[in-house]
Parts: sequence; structure tokens; C-alpha cells
Amino acid sequence: MSSSFGLTPELVRYLAQVNPPEHPALARCREETSRLPMARMQISAEQGAFMQTIVRMLNAKRAFEIGVFTGYSSTATALTMKELHPVGAKLLACDISEEWTTKARDYWREAQVDDLIELVLAPASETLDARVAAGEGGQYDLGFIDADKTGYDVYYERGLQLLRKGGAMLFDNMLWSGRVADPADTTPDTSALRALAHKAKADPRVHAAMTNIGDGVLICVKK
Ligand SMILES: C[S@@+](CC[C@H](N)C(=O)[O-])C[C@H]1O[C@@H](n2cnc3c(N)ncnc32)[C@H](O)[C@@H]1O
Repeated sequence: MSSSFGLTPELVRYLAQVNPPEHPALARCREETSRLPMARMQISAEQGAFMQTIVRMLNAKRAFEIGVFTGYSSTATALTMKELHPVGAKLLACDISEEWTTKARDYWREAQVDDLIELVLAPASETLDARVAAGEGGQYDLGFIDADKTGYDVYYERGLQLLRKGGAMLFDNMLWSGRVADPADTTPDTSALRALAHKAKADPRVHAAMTNIGDGVLICVKK
């Protein structure tokens, strides 16, 4: 089972007890995904609950997600968006895998959020560029970025254009299982994550805070 980095199994169970219960579609998504070879890519249940709280705090009606996989984070986000905005909520979901997102569509249908999710299968940089060019700048409340790490800087820049003032982006895997704190690790993924953390800290366009939820979530609120 996917869980936050560094938590003991006892604490994972405790969090599950004290957090809101998972929607049945989320529980099925977690259970079925756990049998896939790439199961560890899925966000943890406690991160899903955290993201639903962020959606609520932002009263998010329009969001984008980069990195859908089998759909846990998109289903969690869309469920709360639909609860808050039964009409008009929209989630732009970006991925490149038909195979994994076919599974995601199944959970979206079960959760009855398929009507608010638009899936675009293409490199996310192209999708975000197209949305900026289509005049959607400043219209998004929330972005969740959980895909190729060397693309994070481009997603940060395009995402900032799409967000409204006061909107937020969450970047996943920012602790990279601890590798970002190892100066000897200069691989492209680790370097990209480190560079983004330092860039966001110094960026006058955002308020940024790094957290240790999941595998590390960087929260950037647009000024
Ligand atoms: C870590 S998984 C996402 C996990 C997901 N958020 C969840 O809750 O289970 C990363 C996903 O990013 C997708 N991806 C990788 N490179 C991408 C790119 N350039 N553009 C869009 N999606 C990409 C992969 O196909 C994969 O589904």
C-alpha cells in the first residue's frame, strides 16, 4: 500500500482511522492498483484526504492535474469539487498513458465525476501551452503536478499563468524518498526537484512552503 514517506505502518493505520472514510471508488482504486507493478506511483490515502481539504479551502471550481495514472488523486479532487460545485466544476486531467487512464475512467464513472473531468492524452507541456494560448490564464483555482520530474519547471511556469491570484499548485514527490538531501545525487530528476524547491522559495510571484506529506508536497500559492 502506498503511504507517506517515513511513516510507520502503525501511523498509516492510525491516519486511516482518524481521517474521513475513503469513497468506495477510491477504496477500489487503491485496492486494484496495489496489484499493479507500478503501484507505488499512486498517492497515499492521507495525501488524498489532504488534497480534498485544499480543494475545500480554495473552494476550487476549476483545476488541472498533471499525472493521472489510475486516477486516485483526480477522483479525490473531483469528488470534493463536485460536492462544492454541483454545476460547473471542471478538472483538466493530463497524462500520456491510455492504458492507465482507462482504469482511471472506470473509477471516475463509479464516483460519478466523469462528467467534470476532461482527459487530454498528450505531453502535459503541450496541453498547458494550448490552454494558455486559448486564453485560460488566471482561471484555475488549483493545480496538482505529479508526473515527469524534469518537466516540473515548465509545469510551474505554465501553471502560474493558468492560476488565479490566491490559487495554489501542489507539486508531488519533492522529497524524492530523501534523495534531494543527498548532495552526491545529481541525477536529472533529483536536480530538477531541488532546483524547483529553491526557485519557488526565492520567487516573488508565490508564497511557497515545503511539507513532508506523501513523498513531499511543495505548496505554491500565487500572489
Ligand atoms: C506518479 S504517476 C501519477 C499518480 C496519480 N497522481 C495518482 O494519484 O495515482 C505519474 C503519471 O504521469 C504520467 N506522465 C509521465 N510523463 C508525462 C508527461 N510528459 N505528460 C503527462 N503525463 C505524464 C504517467 O503516465 C503517469 O500516469
